[in-house]
Amino acid sequence: MVQIFKLEHYHKLNNLIRFILNEKEVATGLPSGMVLLDFIRYHQHLMGTKIGCREGDCGACTVLVGDIINSELKYQSMTSCLLALGNAQGKHIVTIEGINNDKELNAVQQAMAEEGATQCGFCTPGFVVSLAGFCLNDKEATQQNAIAAVDGNICRCTGYKSIERAAGRMAMLMRERNDEEPSVFVSRKKILPSYFSDIKKRLQQLKNAEKAKTPDVLASLSQPQIVGGGTDLYVQKHDEIAHADIRLVFDQPNLNGIGKRENKCIVGPSATVNDLKESPIINELFPQFDRYAKLVSSTPIRNMATIAGNFINASPIGDFTIFFLALDAQLVLNDVSKTSSNGESVRTLALRKLYKGYKQLDKKPEEQVEQIWFELPGKNSLFNFEKVSKRTNLDIASVNSAISITMKGDVIESAGIAAGGVGPIPLYLQKASEALKGKKISEKIIHETIEAAWSEISPISDVRGGKEYKRLLLGQLIKAHFMILFP
Ligand SMILES: Cc1cc2nc3c(=O)[nH]c(=O)nc-3n(C[C@H](O)[C@H](O)[C@H](O)COP(=O)(O)OP(=O)(O)OC[C@H]3O[C@@H](n4cnc5c(N)ncnc54)[C@H](O)[C@@H]3O)c2cc1C
Ligand code: FES
Ligand code: FES
Repeated sequence: MVQIFKLEHYHKLNNLIRFILNEKEVATGLPSGMVLLDFIRYHQHLMGTKIGCREGDCGACTVLVGDIINSELKYQSMTSCLLALGNAQGKHIVTIEGINNDKELNAVQQAMAEEGATQCGFCTPGFVVSLAGFCLNDKEATQQNAIAAVDGNICRCTGYKSIERAAGRMAMLMRERNDEEPSVFVSRKKILPSYFSDIKKRLQQLKNAEKAKTPDVLASLSQPQIVGGGTDLYVQKHDEIAHADIRLVFDQPNLNGIGKRENKCIVGPSATVNDLKESPIINELFPQFDRYAKLVSSTPIRNMATIAGNFINASPIGDFTIFFLALDAQLVLNDVSKTSSNGESVRTLALRKLYKGYKQLDKKPEEQVEQIWFELPGKNSLFNFEKVSKRTNLDIASVNSAISITMKGDVIESAGIAAGGVGPIPLYLQKASEALKGKKISEKIIHETIEAAWSEISPISDVRGGKEYKRLLLGQLIKAHFMILFP
């Protein structure tokens, strides 16, 4: 049965946001910019999902988001405090209540209890949901992968060893799955409730029914506030957005995906960090990509954080901004307020030209990023990304840097170096890049490159380090690029 809620912000029936919440289908006319956490707790009265930081850091509010991707049902963990209600459209949202069994503890809860992995219990629903997410995905059933599934969850009182043991027990249980679809396996083995085995069919029916109507996403084009994964916006502007409808870009098929066409790699602006991490194309082009991605936030944030969101947020330390600056990525921008069909609303802009000053962009608010592309690196091209932060994981950079180099024999044909945390904008280091062109690698040339980089930066002292420290750190990161690429 579909439950329709009190519609304070009801617009029209077609624009109701519909999804499956645990076992039941829901439809709501509440603002698409409201965060899912508030919908779950205050409109659904499901209080198991906890509120900790409301900034994506603690994982107390973790939910699972299930969707059919390439005919497969996939679940990802996300922090509901930063997830727009509109982005739940057509999905299966799983809260802690949705994985409870009627009478006894489920297998994840049992493992947590028996390993002594909970004390005050505040963080526990988040850990249990993340581990249930591990059971619902098709990653190899190792303790390491189970532990990685809880890398966005923080516990302030139990300590992590017992939680790691509980994760190890879940990995053992999942080893019996073989090739069975995870949602079918976990319900057959009673690891999670039996309704999971029907979800794929129910989601497909929901999607088919929605296709027959005006998609919410088209109706949302008139809204000025673009929200991708929401991981920047809701941290900074929650109160401004939570009561309004938003422009939904997260799930539009034409804004997602990663592909190759002619000599270009094309990345959908709404591709997430995790989409890149799992893309065979990206892994072939950048064999170290997994290492880079693990330096960025946590699993739930990587499942939400989009590449365009990273660019447009214009943080001087955005990791993927630095990555794509080195590659000389190009943005296709579309002013959706213009109705022209002759292409006038569309222009291409180099990412290196986007930043005009601190959080100032060469972009109108109406323009949305519709495509990101860069030239496919040739077989003589090399790439490296480095990041130093106060903590290795789950921290933003003090300084980060990326380099892309093309060699001709032992001479550098072209180079692009980018650096973050050393100025008011994410910087493409033009002089440092030029210093390398036509040169052979030597200590002298590396030193000259660092000197050139220092002449282009203007770091400030802040919580992430003093300005002199950041200057020296950039020099070390440039050296690290050469040590890794030319060992
Ligand atoms: C706990 C936590 C840890 C984090 N760690 C890191 C980290 O290690 N490294 C890092 O770089 N960042 C980090 N971030 C920041 C953030 O996750 C990234 O910047 C992310 O890529 C933002 O993407 P988003 O889709 O969530 O952006 P949103 O918050 O949805 O949007 C950000 C901006 O982009 C605009 N936008 C989004 N899509 C489009 C589009 N298609 N066209 C035009 N404008 C658009 C929005 O209007 C908004 O102005 C972290 C955030 C959190 C909460
Ligand atoms: S409340 Fe802390 S991550 Fe959402
Ligand atoms: S059990 Fe208390 S915060 Fe984890």
